[in-house]
Amino acid sequence: MRISEADSGDVAGLARLLWVNAHGEEPTRPPDTFAGELARWWADRPGSHLAYVARLDPPELVGMAWVALVPRVPRPGNLGRMSADIQTVFVLPEHRGRGIGSALVDAAAEHAIRLGALHVTVHSGHRAVPVYERLGFASSPQLLQRSPD
Ligand SMILES: CC(C)(COP(=O)(O)OP(=O)(O)OC[C@H]1O[C@@H](n2cnc3c(N)ncnc32)[C@H](O)[C@@H]1OP(=O)(O)O)[C@@H](O)C(=O)NCCC(=O)NCCS
Repeated sequence: MRISEADSGDVAGLARLLWVNAHGEEPTRPPDTFAGELARWWADRPGSHLAYVARLDPPELVGMAWVALVPRVPRPGNLGRMSADIQTVFVLPEHRGRGIGSALVDAAAEHAIRLGALHVTVHSGHRAVPVYERLGFASSPQLLQRSPD
């Protein structure tokens, strides 16, 4: 099992994981159609999103963790401020419980911090909260959110 940053050659595998993750919960496109759409979506956003993937040998993607890099308003003398948001962490059900999800989140968060992110947030599902807590994510009374009514 290898954890590495995804590149454009991984789009079809990422599309498949996103498709499995969403299937049954919301209307989905056929996987092949979605792979093309995902490739265009990613190419249109250079530098805004990166993904870490877990791959088996022979190469088959079994998990992913995305991180969105969010530019922040500059301060005098610091034009490159940014924060980061972990998104869409998913491991195929048959590969869960072996630390893959944790390793993916850790790699994605570390990458964002190396790039200078001031903080890394995540909006977790209920069951995944311990995954993030074990990696040092903690609730903050200063991080507030507003949702649609
Ligand atoms: C969350 C998820 C990525 C973890 O992957 P993983 O490879 O099993 O992760 P790890 O082995 O590092 O950690 C296992 C932990 O995942 C959590 N977990 C277990 N089943 C889960 C599920 N169905 N959904 C969410 N979290 C789950 C538990 O906290 C578990 O810890 P425990 O074994 O001490 O109870 C994986 O369960 C998944 O893809 N779930 C569906 C999508 C999801 O909930 N994503 C997170 C929202 S951002």
